[in-house]
Formats: sequence, structure tokens, C-alpha cells
Amino acid sequence: MRIDVVTIFPAFFDVLEVSLIGKARERGLLDVRVHDLRQWTHDRHRTVDDTPYGGGAGMVMKPEPWGEALDELAPVDAEARPTIIFPSPAGELFRQSTARELALHEHLVFGCGRYEGIDERVFEDAAARGSVRLISLGDYVLNGGEVAAMAMIEAIGRLVPGMVGNPASIVEESHEDGLLEYPSYTKPAVWRDRAVPDILLSGNHGAIAQWRAQQQLERTRARRPDLLPE
Ligand code: ADE
Repeated sequence: MRIDVVTIFPAFFDVLEVSLIGKARERGLLDVRVHDLRQWTHDRHRTVDDTPYGGGAGMVMKPEPWGEALDELAPVDAEARPTIIFPSPAGELFRQSTARELALHEHLVFGCGRYEGIDERVFEDAAARGSVRLISLGDYVLNGGEVAAMAMIEAIGRLVPGMVGNPASIVEESHEDGLLEYPSYTKPAVWRDRAVPDILLSGNHGAIAQWRAQQQLERTRARRPDLLPE
């Protein structure tokens, strides 16, 4: 999978080198390229924003550098159309199902804007080049799209076929089946007077599966009732 990231803060993405994603890059499963939006500016100050038409607080990102960035990374006449993602608190919510779907795409382009926003015409221009998605990490506001893009790249990247050592560990984790994960234990069987639940030492796989499913339900009911059907 190829991922292009356009940002005015490329350094945010340096940590991609050290994580699981870094290993995938080394193994050639993920080709992540980070681009500084300012390389597509032409004035002495490398300006990327300006005051909003109609007034109001904050600055809006200018369309021209974004247009040139997209000309290069997602040309209009290209055969393959990338999915162009703009992290935004005004977008659809990012879920595990979103990550799963996006992990099947060949080419993702992340456009990281500051939170006051990007000139709206950029989204229209982008729609001529690929399928455009505005995606929110959650109902809170970050200073820009970078941290959100990082989170999405990690969630998507680990689902790319061949990425995680044991695919079963993905299937059993929180959110994959719509519920929170069951509690996990390892040795020693007693630690600081706290014992591992007997059932897990019983060797009865059917009973263990049932106990885990019950734990998942109870946790989800307590912590995330919104995930359960009415
Ligand atoms: N940019 C600013 N806040 C954001 C959020 N919650 N999700 C995605 N991108 C953002």
C-alpha cells in the first residue's frame, strides 16, 4: 500500500520509523511518503494560509499549494484513483470498520490541514482526482490533522495483509466484533495475592470461550453501552 501525507509539520511523522509501521516500511508492505506542503508555495514567506472571506477568527489554508500538491500526488488523468483523506473534526467518525475498509485500498493520500480549515474548493478539486473522505478521530478538536492522520495510519497499516505476526490477534481484539476485548492474564497464576480466574486454568476451552464472551458483554455494557443494540 502506498500512503502519501501532505502536512506543514513533516516532523510529526518521524515516529513512523520506530513503530510496527516502520518495520512494514522496511519490509516493503507499506510505502509511506511525507511531503511538506510548503514545497508547493512560491512566495518568499512560503505562505500557506490567509484570512477568511466573510470575516471570522483564525486563518484558512490557501487553495493554491493544495492544488499543486494534488496535481503531483493525485493527477487528474491518472489511471488509478487514490482515496484522498482529509482528517477533520467535521468528518465522518473513524471506526475499526473504516480502518478495515481503507486497509484494502492501494493508495491513500492524507491532507493534513489546520483545524480552522482548508479552502472548501480544495475538496471539490480533489474529488476530480480520487474519492474524497473527511474523517474525524472523535468528538474533540485537535490543532491540526497530523495526530489524527498518524492514528489512522497506524490503525489502517496494521490491518494491511502480512503486517501483524498473528492474524488471530487482530480478530480477537476490541472492536473487531463490535464489543470491547475480554481481560487477559499471563503467568504467574498468583501475583500480589491476586489470582487469575480459575476458569482460565481449567483447560475447558468451551467454558473459557463462554466466560470471555460474557466478560466482553459486561465490559461493553459498563464502559460503552452505546456499542450495544437497544
Ligand atoms: N483535526 C482537528 N481535530 C480533528 C479530529 N477530531 N479528527 C480529525 N482531524 C482533526
